[in-house]
Amino acid sequence: MNGQIVEVFNAVFETLVQADLVCPEHGPYTSEIVRFAGHQQWSPCRRCAIRDLRAIAARESGEAARQRIQNRVERAGVPKIYAAALLENCDQAAAVTEWLKSPSSSLALLGNIGTGKTYLACAALISAAIQGRECRYVTAAGFLRSLRSSWGQPGDEMTVLRPLTECDLLVLDDIGANRAVEHDDVSVHELVVERVERGAKTIFVSNLAPDGLRMRMGMRAFDRMRAGCVQISMVGESRRKPSGVINDKR
Ligand SMILES: Nc1ncnc2c1ncn2[C@@H]1O[C@H](COP(=O)(O)OP(=O)(O)O)[C@@H](O)[C@H]1O
Ligand SMILES: [Mg+2]
Ligand SMILES: [Zn+2]
Repeated sequence: MNGQIVEVFNAVFETLVQADLVCPEHGPYTSEIVRFAGHQQWSPCRRCAIRDLRAIAARESGEAARQRIQNRVERAGVPKIYAAALLENCDQAAAVTEWLKSPSSSLALLGNIGTGKTYLACAALISAAIQGRECRYVTAAGFLRSLRSSWGQPGDEMTVLRPLTECDLLVLDDIGANRAVEHDDVSVHELVVERVERGAKTIFVSNLAPDGLRMRMGMRAFDRMRAGCVQISMVGESRRKPSGVINDKR
């Protein structure tokens, strides 16, 4: 051990041996013998030690944070093909980011098939998940299907409804794509009305025009949705490749 060793008498505890050392990075520091994991060693430069600890903490919390986000996206039920959807790839990124920050509870993505509605909705969901919000993705048909299969099960419809009602952000995709019976509409009403009343954010996705959507959702739910709703009309050619293309990644 280089440096000048100074013996110091510590009245309370024990004799500590100190040395004035020089850290190549941080310059002079006082080192002392410390007991560590059953043996004695010279204490390192304090500033180096703090920097190393910070690096370890950052690495661990970075990894933990990444895992938390991934779990959140998985819980949300985003279809696998949209699990890497990025807002940065969307022309409407600014409008969606603005809406996510705003108090507005509803966002309607309306447009023809293949215009990127589901991609945009999932990109918005993933962005919200990264911010720590609990999100759910469901198609209208999938929602009604899980409601029906819950009948007679323990907890009944509540097991399906509760996570969709209580989450911070819900994507309700493909509204109006399928026919449904009256009961189903009532469930969609309930879900929409409860979320809007709570001010919880919902992204409504449909290839119906507003008039068709009103008929399909019912006036009451439609009117709730429309209050303060931001609407994005998705236009352009279908981004879906013509059917028959073998390497279609959808
Ligand atoms: N911004 C985008 N960047 C990259 N791929 C996209 C983008 N928007 C849509 N796509 C791709 O185009 C196809 C159609 O988009 P999709 O969101 O499914 O359309 P829609 O829901 O309107 O029918 C999908 O394969 C999707 O992954
Ligand atoms: Mg879609
Ligand atoms: Zn140092």
